[in-house]
Amino acid sequence: MRPNSETSYYITTPIYYVNDVPHIGHAYTTVAADILARYKRLEGYQVFFLTGTDEHGQKVEKAAQERGVDPKAHCDEMVVRFQSLWKRLNISNNDFIRTTEIRHKKVVQKILQDLYDRGEIYQDNYDGWYCIPCERFWTEKDLIEGKCPDCLRLVTEISEKNYFFRMSKYQSWLIEYIEKNERFIFPPSRRNEILGFLRSPLEDLCISRPKKRLKWGIEIPFDTEYVTYVWFDALINYVSGIGYGSEEKPFSQFWLQATHLIGKDILTTHTVYWPTMLKAIGLTPPKMVFAHGWWTIEGKKMSKSLQNVVEPNRLIDTYGVDSVRYFLMREVPFGTDGDFSDSAMVHRINSDLANDLGNLFSRALSMVVKYFDGLIPAPSNLQELDRGFQEVSEKVLPQLSKQMDDLAFNRALGSIWEIVNAGNKYIDETAPWALAKAEKDRPRLGTVLYQTLESLRIIALLLAAFIPSTSEKIWSQLGMEENLWEQKIKESGKWGGLKPKKKVAKPTPLFPRIDPTKISQGA
Ligand code: ME8
Repeated sequence: MRPNSETSYYITTPIYYVNDVPHIGHAYTTVAADILARYKRLEGYQVFFLTGTDEHGQKVEKAAQERGVDPKAHCDEMVVRFQSLWKRLNISNNDFIRTTEIRHKKVVQKILQDLYDRGEIYQDNYDGWYCIPCERFWTEKDLIEGKCPDCLRLVTEISEKNYFFRMSKYQSWLIEYIEKNERFIFPPSRRNEILGFLRSPLEDLCISRPKKRLKWGIEIPFDTEYVTYVWFDALINYVSGIGYGSEEKPFSQFWLQATHLIGKDILTTHTVYWPTMLKAIGLTPPKMVFAHGWWTIEGKKMSKSLQNVVEPNRLIDTYGVDSVRYFLMREVPFGTDGDFSDSAMVHRINSDLANDLGNLFSRALSMVVKYFDGLIPAPSNLQELDRGFQEVSEKVLPQLSKQMDDLAFNRALGSIWEIVNAGNKYIDETAPWALAKAEKDRPRLGTVLYQTLESLRIIALLLAAFIPSTSEKIWSQLGMEENLWEQKIKESGKWGGLKPKKKVAKPTPLFPRIDPTKISQGA
């Protein structure tokens, strides 16, 4: 495909606050984005995948103060925790943006100055309530029993001069835009939520904080007494990270194909603030904002005080990176809330990965080693049973492409598992161990084993985005010399790509069974 906007795909994650170390919630969005990025590359798209960190604002300043370190030094330390976790999770991001980088700050200031010059930003007095943890202003009527409607914590009364972005003037444009572009906010329940929210009048957005209250932010270019509101700063990462206003190439190629993956907690900022900001700047809103659901831990909200924060590094150490990636995507539909427990994880690994996939792989390879000295046999005289098996995989391919476009990761895995299950059933029905007993059945035995290994080749290709290291292992153990990541699903996914006469090795288990009695919560 030629590199143009239509064959390009731009995927982002939220940029995470560096007030604390990453947890399973951050890993969830980032793994999902990685799977989408890898899958789209395998479909032949030119993909730009951006993640990063949100380093300004009160939360980060406070975290640094509590540790007695300078905010920048704090960020420099914390950012490494995110970057090294993404490495361990096999995240294939093309770039990593930090909002303290010059390339980002320059773009934020340029946009602010431009909006100010065009009268889109004005100064006014603000009298009202402020929630420090959420960094948001609230009016009296927003409050719930005198507390922040978002986090239900106490708010502080303030009166000060600030700068405001004329967000309210874009309200009717935004409603129309959301109504016309059905896939702009996904899933549809979130779209309805925002359309409901937009039935009340939209207010202008306060985009500054006086330095006397907050120092850690990007200075407002037209008033040095102020810094930029952290959300106005952070959202701009999605364009500064692909060179908006500087290197025009990645921006012009990728912006129109943007998909933002976020958690449902930050839906309003991404589907109200961000598109109106873009409209004022003169840019098109992203193609899709997908808000996924929330993970709880054994039925409880994850929190430091409950000491139940799930640390992704612990999960990787205990279960292995691909098991973690698989579990997160398989356990709950993307878009729905989910509950994490070690027992659910162990159950998934043992049943789907060790039993279904692992067994198919080791049974098939062991028989090729045992009956054909490890040389892949050639198929001959296909029977109905063989064709039926083949058809399962041919049916799955188009289904999968649609499911991935809808970010329906668990349904996509369900479809791939149709091939895995059909493979195990095929082995049971054809009983190769019985065929091995008579010389006259050798060609039939060769056909059955070829068909099974071929299904594994296709499974490895389709699972590559989800469990990259395991897929690479299956792929190379099948004697495939071509680089897995250079394959195109449409062509390589066709039945018959496996080459007879290639040598396969004695298999080692892909996913050893985990003894559930040996795993305790927090192990
Ligand atoms: O909001 N379940 O950063 P943040 C699922 N800096 N996902 C979860 C989760 C959970 N329990 N907890 C966190 C910010 N997440 C801003 C974003 S973007 C321009 C600025 C994930 O560190 C989910 O993606 O609080 C959520 O939206 C994000 O982490 C919030 O990360």
